[in-house]
Amino acid sequence: MPVADDIKALTKGRVSPSAQDLLRKEGRPVPEAFELESPKFLGNEDIDFSRYTDPDFFAREMELMWTRTWQWACREEHIPEPGDHYVYDIGPHSALIVRGQDGVIRGFINSCLHRGTKFRPGSTCGSFDEIRCPFHGWTWDLNGALGRVPYEWDVPHIQGRDFSLPQVKVGVWGGFVFINFDEDAMPLEDYLAPIPEHLENFGLGDRFVELHIEKELSCNWKAAKEAFVENYHTQETHPQLLLGSDDEGTQYDIFTDHVCRFFCLFGVPSQLVDPRPSAQELVDQMLTGDRSLVGDEAVMREGESARVVMARVLRTQMEAAYGADLSRFTDTEMIDVSQYGIFPSAILFPQLSLPMMYRFRPIGEDPNRSLFELLILRPVPDDGPRPLPAEPMRLKEEDSFTTVPGFDPILGHVYDQDTGNLRAQQEGIRAARKKGETLLNYQEVRVRLLHQTLDKYLAAHL
Ligand code: FES
Ligand SMILES: [Fe+2]
Repeated sequence: MPVADDIKALTKGRVSPSAQDLLRKEGRPVPEAFELESPKFLGNEDIDFSRYTDPDFFAREMELMWTRTWQWACREEHIPEPGDHYVYDIGPHSALIVRGQDGVIRGFINSCLHRGTKFRPGSTCGSFDEIRCPFHGWTWDLNGALGRVPYEWDVPHIQGRDFSLPQVKVGVWGGFVFINFDEDAMPLEDYLAPIPEHLENFGLGDRFVELHIEKELSCNWKAAKEAFVENYHTQETHPQLLLGSDDEGTQYDIFTDHVCRFFCLFGVPSQLVDPRPSAQELVDQMLTGDRSLVGDEAVMREGESARVVMARVLRTQMEAAYGADLSRFTDTEMIDVSQYGIFPSAILFPQLSLPMMYRFRPIGEDPNRSLFELLILRPVPDDGPRPLPAEPMRLKEEDSFTTVPGFDPILGHVYDQDTGNLRAQQEGIRAARKKGETLLNYQEVRVRLLHQTLDKYLAAHL
């Protein structure tokens, strides 16, 4: 883990108080993980634009990075029973994830050992008793052992050869099923550290997929992910959010090559907001994303701050809506936004008010297109059945997030603002005469980390 740099030196000139200053001033209980700061200066050289457009660079990513990193593929709840399966594709690579009769989840290369046919198409799920190729009907059991070969007398030369399906590494944490195509990959727990320790209290295994949105974008997958790892763009792209979230005071942490975080307090106006809002205006603003749950009941009591009201109301309303006991969560765990970036493709938001997982992948093998997925993960009721995971809803680039049933349209508008920038950025990158992008040292450090970690994979140092 890198040694934390001096936060004062890194943020010299910042006007807003830091998230930590504000939490200390509030004096409410804060879990250890959220009292932690891990700032890092990673250099200030420009990042070459060709990394977003060059087909050769993209091909190297596919060969050297995507084949060797842990990638979140599905939730356990997508494959609860023996025979349930899920297909995860990345570029030309494909994993068939199967729950066996013994309940163990295994991953196989999704390609027939006869003439190569894919067993199941990408991004599909379903249930089967055996893995059966649709072309000539060779079969394998759920453990990947070869079963039936029609007219087997004609292939005597497979006798004595290993025709078990090649495996893909599988790891499970917090109800998330991860895969890694590299047989020698480090254990998932090591790769994710310190996330499992930081987020133990959230019990992410006891969440269900309430909503699953897929959005097609005309930009490189890295540009798509990078649009969500900094809060710097809020002042220009989402000015309506400045009322209730302090852009400049957002905390950025670098934990490892694979894990970073930002931490932003809600109910704290940006220094750019003038005149300063009333506490009731702050509470109203903080309902973004949860309006369907909270209704109009967030009324201030004498002496309460906006943040205390919001935590109280949200806890009460969510307990009623989901039948789950949320009393173990501190205010910051309820209402604030921390998001943990997991290299290369995922961003996890554990907090209860915006409980989400993002995923960013190329579409096919095109450096100029990507798929952004957004899942809302609500608590499973304490008593009663686990709700089925929502089916993905696909949006084309021109489709608005505000059209998604069950998604707060105010939040939908925010995502339209985010994704609205990305075609322009990709086109501008291709039009540029400047060689690369120039990044902010502190607020855009997570963009730089993505590139530095990627370079380590391309150079085979990781
Ligand atoms: S290609 Fe799979 S059985 Fe022939
Ligand atoms: Fe944004």
